[in-house]
Order: sequence, then structure tokens, then C-alpha cells
Amino acid sequence: MNRTLIILSAITAVGLFFSGIALPTTADAQTAAKDRLALMKSNGKNFVQIKKATDTQTITAAAKAINANAKKLASADLWPKGSHGGDTRAKVEIWQNMGKFIANLKSLENASDNLIKVSLGGDLGNSKKAFGAMARVCGGCHKEFQAPKNK
Ligand code: HEC
Repeated sequence: MNRTLIILSAITAVGLFFSGIALPTTADAQTAAKDRLALMKSNGKNFVQIKKATDTQTITAAAKAINANAKKLASADLWPKGSHGGDTRAKVEIWQNMGKFIANLKSLENASDNLIKVSLGGDLGNSKKAFGAMARVCGGCHKEFQAPKNK
């Protein structure tokens, strides 16, 4: 390598270091971050479907999907230590307060379970109310544990 190349690659390395594009450290952490984001994105899709729904059947189906996602998300395997930072918006507070974080996921499981039960009753108004209660669980957790979008 000649001098210019060495200098160039040193500059690139420093640039990468400061640009903050580094992913979580280990391969496991990267896989976990990818898997949990996919589950959350599914939550988002189903959330919108419930919001737009004009019948309780649609709400029941979407609430079932969220309920299944909540159960999967409560696995500690998806939140390994050191899997914050980089491209994930998971705040370091999750690992400082894992008990509360997992309890929030349990609340989501219960709130979506309730939404399924209420929706099976067939009353759209009641169903939308139960949806509101579930939405507060999503919002409360994001406020505390999800970093704002920075890109
Ligand atoms: C236990 C806390 C918690 C609950 C409850 C929760 N979320 Fe999340 N959510 C997070 C965290 C943390 C992230 C960031 C994950 C990451 O980037 O690795 C996230 C990410 C997301 C994203 C991805 C945003 C992006 O970066 O593309 C969506 C969409 C989302 N959540 C929707 C929902 C919906 C809808 C609900 C309720 C049905 C919900 N979440 C419930 C903690 C939670």
C-alpha cells in the first residue's frame, strides 16, 4: 500500500467510526435486532388495519396477529445485551430495566387478548375502545424505550 492509500483508508475508518452507522456488535445481536424489528413492523401494519377497520372481524384477525407477536417479542433472546445502538432504535434503558420492559410486552399480550374477546362480541364501538386501551400500551412503551427517528 502506498502512502496515499494508507492515509485514505485511515480517513475512511475514522469517518465510519463517527458516522454511527455501525450495527450492534455481534452477529447474534444483529439477527435479534432484525427479527424483533420485523415483529414490530407487523404490529404497525396490524395496528393501522384496526384503526381503519369498519367491522369487528377485521379487528379480531389483526388483534390475533398482534397477540402472537407480543408473545414472541417477550422472549429475552430477541433482546440480547449490547443489541442497542447503530441502526436499531432500541434504547439502552431497556437493559437497565428489563423487568419493566418485558412487563410492558405482557401488558400488550393482555390488551390484545382483551381486544380479541371484545371484538368477538361484534360491537364496533366497544371494539374501538378496547383498541384505544391497547394503543396506549404501544405508545407508553415507545415513549420510554424507543429512540426517536434520527435519519
Ligand atoms: C415493550 C415495549 C413495546 C411495546 C409494548 C410495543 N413496542 Fe413497538 N417498539 C419498541 C421498541 C424498543 C422498538 C425499536 C426496536 C428496534 O429498533 O430494535 C419498537 C419499534 C416499533 C416499530 C418499528 C419502527 C421502525 O423503526 O420502523 C413499529 C412500527 C412499532 N414498534 C409498532 C408497535 C405497535 C403498533 C405496538 C402495539 C400494538 C407496539 N409497537 C408495542 C417497543 C415496544
